[in-house]
Amino acid sequence: MRIDIITVVPDLLKSPFEASIMQRSIAKGLVDVQFHNLRDYTDTNYKQVDDYQFGGGAGMVMQIEPIDKCISKLKSERDYDEVIYMTPDGETLDQGMANTISLKGNIIILCGHYKGVDQRVRDHFITKEISIGDYVLSGGELGALILCDAVIRLIPGVLGNETSALTDSFQDGLLAPPIYTRPAEYKGWKVPEILTSGNTPKIEEWREEQAYQRTKERRPDLLDE
Ligand code: ADE
Repeated sequence: MRIDIITVVPDLLKSPFEASIMQRSIAKGLVDVQFHNLRDYTDTNYKQVDDYQFGGGAGMVMQIEPIDKCISKLKSERDYDEVIYMTPDGETLDQGMANTISLKGNIIILCGHYKGVDQRVRDHFITKEISIGDYVLSGGELGALILCDAVIRLIPGVLGNETSALTDSFQDGLLAPPIYTRPAEYKGWKVPEILTSGNTPKIEEWREEQAYQRTKERRPDLLDE
């Protein structure tokens, strides 16, 4: 998968791709992430990419021309399956959306900044608008990182143990059950006996029941769906 991220602050994005699972996915050649500084696509003296709102109002708006130049250049080099805009008024990211995007080949992610982008960018270039939740960030960059992390770990071969992404919370519509590791007893706090019984079918049954109970207590809305 190739991910092209368009931003005015590339420095905000780079380090998460230099560690852990995202770094390994790149090292394994399963993901190629490229950053594009929008200021490289403007000819103005001050590398301006934003301007005042027509009609007045507080906050600057990202201009269409640098975004058009950047997206058009990328599209002239390869086909893209999705041009995503990170915005608080987009569709809220969930595991199902991450699964769908993880099957794509090439995607562009445009990070908004200031008040956001000129509406014509959304009307003519964007194929999908994504929010990471009902709160407003200073820009789309942190949202783009969360989207990338959620998507990249689902790409086959990225996680060492292929089954581990399948047992994540939300993957089957339920939260994940409690998990334990050694020691089996610590300060008198014991691991549930069933987990050390070696009885795999019973363990599976216990996990399913725990996942259901946890979901019922914490996220009953998931059971309604
Ligand atoms: N940009 C600002 N706030 C955002 C949010 N909640 N999700 C995605 N992009 C954003």
